[in-house]
Amino acid sequence: MDDILVLGATGKTGRRLVRLLRERDLPVRPASRSSAVRFDWSGPQTWEPATKGARAVYLVAPDDPAPIAGFVDQARRNGPVERFVVLSGRGIEHVEGDFGAGMATAERAVAASGAEWTVLRPNEFAQNFDAVEIMGRAAGRTIEYVELTPAAYRAELIAEGCPEAVADALGEMFALHRAGHTVEPTGDVRRVLGREPIAFADYAARAATAGAWSV
Ligand SMILES: NC(=O)c1ccc[n+]([C@@H]2O[C@H](COP(=O)([O-])OP(=O)(O)OC[C@H]3O[C@@H](n4cnc5c(N)ncnc54)[C@H](OP(=O)(O)O)[C@@H]3O)[C@@H](O)[C@H]2O)c1
Repeated sequence: MDDILVLGATGKTGRRLVRLLRERDLPVRPASRSSAVRFDWSGPQTWEPATKGARAVYLVAPDDPAPIAGFVDQARRNGPVERFVVLSGRGIEHVEGDFGAGMATAERAVAASGAEWTVLRPNEFAQNFDAVEIMGRAAGRTIEYVELTPAAYRAELIAEGCPEAVADALGEMFALHRAGHTVEPTGDVRRVLGREPIAFADYAARAATAGAWSV
């Protein structure tokens, strides 16, 4: 079948990738726990039918790194998969702690797999970007940025019902940003996509028009 298996196919990146591949008439197999092709990181019995006949995998890693190497190995034998594209994150090599352990493990697993591989290391997606002044201006609203200490942020998350492990992982992620590892602009958008990146203010105007920050 030579399908391209897209994990996380209902998610932010996976669903866009599925659409783009379909627009190019490429054979795509969207998979997740709620997709027609069921794939569950915690259910290895779902891996065999999902990977059979797939030649490439878009891999959105789980937070728990435990199943990843086994999956990559299984996909290599069962597909047989010849190419992996891993969604990772910028600055992952600087993280101290458990944040991003799944992404880091997926990077290592595909590099050791013998298959072709590409690792994507995007910076923060827009949904948790906090350039609130530009966003507020674009949306015609006042959005206030209140800086919290890491300890106050953690306490607030936990008070809102966030599990401690998730609060700690978010703290590690913001420590990475505060340390400056994700600050420098790169030429990667131009290099990978062959076009200039758009300005954040233009993106914000477009998103506001689409209702992203409507109340
Ligand atoms: N947000 C950011 O700024 C940012 C930046 C860089 C990297 N990243 C990385 O991007 C990744 C998330 O990607 P995304 O934003 O495209 O996805 P997402 O919107 O977070 O959606 C997660 C996807 O994974 C599936 N999923 C969840 N649990 C699963 C499980 N146990 N087994 C199989 N599939 C499961 C979900 O579908 P079902 O519920 O149907 O299973 C869904 O399709 C994370 O590794 C994150 O660290 C994020």
